[in-house]
Amino acid sequence: MWSGSVSLCVSRKNRVGKVKETAAAIVRSILIVFAHPAFEKSRVNRALVSGVDKVAGVTFHDLYELYPEMDIDVKAEQRLLQAHDVVLLHYPFFLYGMPALLKEWMDLVLVHGWAFGSRGAAMRDKWLGAVVTTGGGRVSYSRDGFNRFTMRELLAPLEQTACLCGMRYLPPYVVHGTNVIAKEGISSSAADYHRMLRLLSDDAFRFDSPDGREYLNDCLNEKR
Ligand SMILES: Cc1cc2nc3c(=O)[nH]c(=O)nc-3n(C[C@H](O)[C@H](O)[C@H](O)COP(=O)(O)O)c2cc1C
Repeated sequence: MWSGSVSLCVSRKNRVGKVKETAAAIVRSILIVFAHPAFEKSRVNRALVSGVDKVAGVTFHDLYELYPEMDIDVKAEQRLLQAHDVVLLHYPFFLYGMPALLKEWMDLVLVHGWAFGSRGAAMRDKWLGAVVTTGGGRVSYSRDGFNRFTMRELLAPLEQTACLCGMRYLPPYVVHGTNVIAKEGISSSAADYHRMLRLLSDDAFRFDSPDGREYLNDCLNEKR
């Protein structure tokens, strides 16, 4: 369903109740590469990223704050990527894609000879995933829905980029319906996102189930 042999499950079955999520050992470092071109107007992403840098193992990296002129420091970005195990591209969905600066970042940083090609192995075996907010609801992202394609289908270029770079691809973490979401929904989405980050950084969170999941959110919901 998604990147070949790699799929996902949460494997805490025998540990739930014995080990508190907050006490989990940090074994994966997570880099959140965040891009929101109108962050001053943001409701949902503002809440999602608030306090995210306090989650152990997480580095929050805001591209529009760092590079308002789009003058990306490629070497610094590559060093940052190499220092992390999991890379999450976090952005609001804009016309079924990512904001321009994030695409520019991908084009300049994940280059042939470094990230892929016969001599490009810098990202090999790391994890890549998307964290996306959409105005449209989940049912609208289906073959019969208003948007005609699933999120997994619309994110296929990212999945194939992961494959090209020898990376492992995570299912996306998606917050839908941002145009209508109420305050309480935003708060619970933010809490879920932080919980998901804590799980991702814990080695008890495995990616080896044969069935896979459509969204990372679904995996999280199973653990409630
Ligand atoms: C230029 C633009 C394009 C958008 N394109 C889409 C889209 O293709 N699909 C969708 O579901 N929502 C779309 N939206 C809605 C945004 O995804 C939504 O406003 C955002 O996720 C809200 O997050 P925020 O509160 O952090 O800004 C678009 C919004 C803007 C401003």
